[in-house]
Amino acid sequence: MAALLLVLLLFAVQSPPVPSRPVADTGTPSPPPSLSSDNGTTTHPNGTLQQLPQIIIIGVRKGGTRALIEMLSLHSEVAAAQNEVHFFDWESHFQKGLPWYLSQMPYAFPNQLTVEKTPAYFTSSKVPKRIHHMNPDIKLLLILRDPTERVLSDYTQIFYNRLQKHKHYQPIESVLVKDGEVNLGYKALNRSLYYVHMQNWLQYFPLESIHIVDGDELIRDPLPEMKKVERFLKLEPQISASNFYFNKTKGFYCLRDHGRERCLHDSKGRAHPHVAPVIMQKLYKFFHEPNKKFFELVGRTFNWK
Ligand code: A3P
Repeated sequence: MAALLLVLLLFAVQSPPVPSRPVADTGTPSPPPSLSSDNGTTTHPNGTLQQLPQIIIIGVRKGGTRALIEMLSLHSEVAAAQNEVHFFDWESHFQKGLPWYLSQMPYAFPNQLTVEKTPAYFTSSKVPKRIHHMNPDIKLLLILRDPTERVLSDYTQIFYNRLQKHKHYQPIESVLVKDGEVNLGYKALNRSLYYVHMQNWLQYFPLESIHIVDGDELIRDPLPEMKKVERFLKLEPQISASNFYFNKTKGFYCLRDHGRERCLHDSKGRAHPHVAPVIMQKLYKFFHEPNKKFFELVGRTFNWK
């Protein structure tokens, strides 16, 4: 009797898979109740299936990747993985092979495109080749923001992580500058050298396969950027002004989805530390040439300082 009750209870808590909405940056998706699988998809009797992503948001870290995937999920023909999968950049995951990658994907209806986001892909040199090997025709989304602002955001994220763990962290200015010069050893600076990383991607993918979202514009006015994303993905135009409203308290746009309003998590849109103007100038100068190289590489410019 007890065993029967346990089985009934397990059955009751196992809700049928539905296309998921992204909710958080951490944690592992729960194992899907799949009934059958082959090497491309895993199907479920309710008509949903797991499929390898046709779209990947490859970065950049702190570029606005969470906002982008949440906004893309407003579209009914998109199913987004909830968590950052880190398949192509973490060896321990990559060694598990494509079946494992597939198992991390959300259940989607056949008319939906599957998307995952792992911001670390953009700056990991082994990733482009691996993704190309999986699917040379995949559509890639890259969201970038002003490289200096991205560095401050990167610092802020690590600062809060360490604060949470009661670990000491150096003040921002001592990380950014060493002996009066920009500290080239600071990893966050390297992540903002967009042309270096972009070169790796362009060895495997044509520029037409990589749509660059202007992260600063996505903050300022998300709709035009999202319309461009829809066009790039050849999605029916659906995302509209009614999907966004500006939240004065947060200081950012929030989302409205079927009448439900939500802002991004508090860890998105945090205040950055104050940095002395003289150090900011050093950073702007430092990024000037790399930015120019990036603009040449992608054939467009951005309004970066
Ligand atoms: P800050 O917290 O430094 O401001 P990612 O999701 O890639 O980690 O990027 C986080 C950044 O997304 C935030 O950095 C924030 O500036 C940006 N962002 C873009 N649109 C946003 C929105 N609507 N709400 C909150 N943050 C947003």
